[in-house]
Amino acid sequence: MAIDMENKKTERIGENLVINGDCIEALHSIDSDTVDLTFFDPPFNQGKDYLNFDDEQPSDEYWKWVEEVLDLINKKSSAGASIYFMQREKNTEEVLRSLRKTGWTFQNLIIWRKMTSAVPSEIRYGKQFQIIVYATKGDRPRVFNKLRANIPLPKNYKNERRNGVLLTDVWDDIRELTSGYFAGDEAIRDKNGNRVHAQQSPLALLLRIVLSSSLPGDTVLDPTAGTGVTSTVASQLKRKSISVEIDPNHFELIKKRLSSMRKADDIVKLRAYYSPTEKLDDIWPFSRPLDNFLFDKQQVIA
Ligand SMILES: C[S@@+](CC[C@H](N)C(=O)[O-])C[C@H]1O[C@@H](n2cnc3c(N)ncnc32)[C@H](O)[C@@H]1O
Repeated sequence: MAIDMENKKTERIGENLVINGDCIEALHSIDSDTVDLTFFDPPFNQGKDYLNFDDEQPSDEYWKWVEEVLDLINKKSSAGASIYFMQREKNTEEVLRSLRKTGWTFQNLIIWRKMTSAVPSEIRYGKQFQIIVYATKGDRPRVFNKLRANIPLPKNYKNERRNGVLLTDVWDDIRELTSGYFAGDEAIRDKNGNRVHAQQSPLALLLRIVLSSSLPGDTVLDPTAGTGVTSTVASQLKRKSISVEIDPNHFELIKKRLSSMRKADDIVKLRAYYSPTEKLDDIWPFSRPLDNFLFDKQQVIA
């Protein structure tokens, strides 16, 4: 990788590279054929207060920026690499178009159904999901691990399933980190108990993505890394990671999160949920005793 390690804005923590800067600049400095999986969760251009990003740009400028990022990621990705692009459902058309235009092949439109109540509207149905488009470089992914999970039984089911359920493109079992107490221990907070990053993604979401679409040793990229959830999960799954974040405060936070793991970031508590997955040990290398972790098989991974 051609990244300048003398630069104080780049730090290596184990197999994780953390870069403070603009993702377009950072992507230019990465060698081609480096990235095997990307999680792209950019600001949604909805007027949120970001220190280093104008989140209220004219729509065409915003989508031009998105295309430039997607195009660069494609150039730096290996054959068969995967990308998961998260967005508001109202932008579905632009997301699909920008991925296609930059060389990605569509695989799934994942509905991430939120567990909190829908956002009401006077003129349309209340909104309750976010989209995550899964696409690949080339027609087929190099890696797609079919996950089975102990998804809770619907109320009218009498018999427990013996072998879990194969995941589909509707994800309604992952709780978002909301602003209130629901966000729990996982949400990173300041001294006053306020959340440091309102858009922090849950570990369970990234666990599903990284487990499904990469193998140990692969390189996972998050070009707009926020609190570093992607690298926090990737490193525990023995993947390498590259996190790029423009906000220096978030950069410091990611470094801290990776160098001294919080108990709340330990993904081992989510392992029982995927226990029906064939050859789980191969995609989730596991070297710690399970004694301290007794979990309910049917837990919702909230
Ligand atoms: C929606 S948030 C990502 C949240 C992240 N998934 C998490 O779990 O914390 C988008 C992030 O992109 C960062 N950002 C905005 N413009 C950027 C750019 N040009 N290059 C790198 N990061 C950028 C913002 O500072 C913000 O933290």
